[in-house]
Amino acid sequence: MQTAPAKTRFTTEDDITAEVLRRFQGTPDARLREIMVSLTQHLHQFVKDVRLNEGEWWKAIEFLTATGHMCSDKRQEFILLSDTMGISMLVDLISNGKPEGATESTVFGPFYREGGPEMPPGGNMAEGAEGGTPAIIHGRVLDMDGKPIANAMLDCWQADPDGLYDSQRPELEELHMRGIYHSDAQGNYLIRTLRPVHYQIPTDGPVGRMLQSTDRHPWRPAHVHFKVTAPGYQPLTTHLFDDGDEYLDSDAVFGVKDSLICKFALHEARDEDSKKFGIEPPFCTAAYDFILAKA
Ligand code: BEZ
Ligand code: FE
Repeated sequence: MQTAPAKTRFTTEDDITAEVLRRFQGTPDARLREIMVSLTQHLHQFVKDVRLNEGEWWKAIEFLTATGHMCSDKRQEFILLSDTMGISMLVDLISNGKPEGATESTVFGPFYREGGPEMPPGGNMAEGAEGGTPAIIHGRVLDMDGKPIANAMLDCWQADPDGLYDSQRPELEELHMRGIYHSDAQGNYLIRTLRPVHYQIPTDGPVGRMLQSTDRHPWRPAHVHFKVTAPGYQPLTTHLFDDGDEYLDSDAVFGVKDSLICKFALHEARDEDSKKFGIEPPFCTAAYDFILAKA
């Protein structure tokens, strides 16, 4: 009596999935194995769920190819894709989750540059910018027991009043709208800048086309970026969002957290704060304490 030959071909949808999974089983690195197996399961299930056809698959290949072609040392379209798909925020939540009571992190974004100018307390990081409303951002850097952290470094960056970062202006060689501040012995910091404006993430590439064809807008609510570091504490990468912004509930990259929304109070006449901060109206003030968790 003849026995059926061992199966060596993988002809059904489920056969192919099972065989790809089997071939990844030998991956020596356990974490890489876990990732490749799970990725295969999810990707195959996705293709089966939506019954992806060849034309659609080819469109996806073209989209990813165009995303790669858009990347340069000044532009990272894959990060933008990750941001607009909510992946960057998921990874941030998983990697940088802070203990209850510490200031929350949010998306890093593609516009950080090293080497921002060192600023004295109250130094103006928006020097030379045209337009906009002057703003004072002040507060303390504290530990989770409420004790001041002296000499914490606050590396700050934001878009200019036209909604552009310096690296988006080809004519601009030098850094702009950036500054590095330090907290004093009582943990106080004092930043002078301009009230942030909402702006569009870059839309001239495949990610822009994805947003347009899915009827999504490209706006980020007005914010200032902060990287706050101090020896012995977990680094914090975050934003402060302007509480008056119309895009707080629909950030194109899902970066808003309630605890990072800050009142930007408008001062239209001379008052105590104009004396205290040596600034003429109109101007804004925003008060915020950063709370760092121990490393
Ligand atoms: C930003 O806030 O600078 C940013 C974040 C994600 C994508 C694009 C810009
Ligand atoms: Fe930004």
